[in-house]
Amino acid sequence: MRKLRIGVLGSGKGSNFRAIREAIATGQIEAEVAVVVSDVEGAGILQLAEEARVKNTTVTDRRYKTRLSPEVEAELVAILKQANVELVVLAGYMRMVKTPLLDAFPRHIINIHPSLLPKFPGLESWRQALAAGEKIAGCTVHYVDAGMDTGGIIAQAEVPVRPGDTAETLHARIQLEEHRIYPEVVARFARRELP
Ligand code: GRF
Repeated sequence: MRKLRIGVLGSGKGSNFRAIREAIATGQIEAEVAVVVSDVEGAGILQLAEEARVKNTTVTDRRYKTRLSPEVEAELVAILKQANVELVVLAGYMRMVKTPLLDAFPRHIINIHPSLLPKFPGLESWRQALAAGEKIAGCTVHYVDAGMDTGGIIAQAEVPVRPGDTAETLHARIQLEEHRIYPEVVARFARRELP
C-alpha cells in the first residue's frame, strides 16, 4: 500500500507534530510527513521540522489573525498539493480553515482540540473547563469543517480535573492524552480505515 503523505499545519510549539513523528519513527504509523507549514515565523513546530529534516515553510497573512485570505490560502493549498499531501493534520493551528483549503481536501483535514467537544469550542478550552467546575476534561480529534470545532468526532480521551489544578497542570494532563490519541487516529488513516 502506498504510504500516506501528511501535511502538518501548526502555529505553536509542535508537541503534537513531535508525537506523530515519533509514532512514524517507531512504526506505529505507516506514513510520511511530507511538509510542515506554519503561519508563525520561527514557530517551535518549524524548528522541530528542521531538526527532523522535514520540509517546512511559513505561509502567513498579516491582514488577518484568525484566518487566511482566500488568495493566501490558495498558496497554502498549492504547497500541500505540490508535496502530494493526502491528509492535512492541524496541530495547534490557530487560524480557521476556509475555502479553498476545505474544498481541496474533503474529509481529509483533521484537528485536535483540548476539550470534550461539543463542550468548550474555541480558545483555551482547558481554562473554560476549569472555570465551569468540570470534573472531567479531555481532548477530541475531529474532521474539520467550516465551523469552529464543529466537524464530526473521530476520537476522544478523558482526563480527570484534580483538586488544586491550575490551567497549566490541566492543560499538561490533556496534552499527554493528545499525544496518545492523535497518532492513533493518523495511524487509522494510514491503514485506510478512515474516513
Ligand atoms: C493543543 O493543546 C491542541 O489541542 C490545540 O493547540 C495545542 C497545540 O499544541 N489545538 P502543540 O503545538 O501541538 O504543542
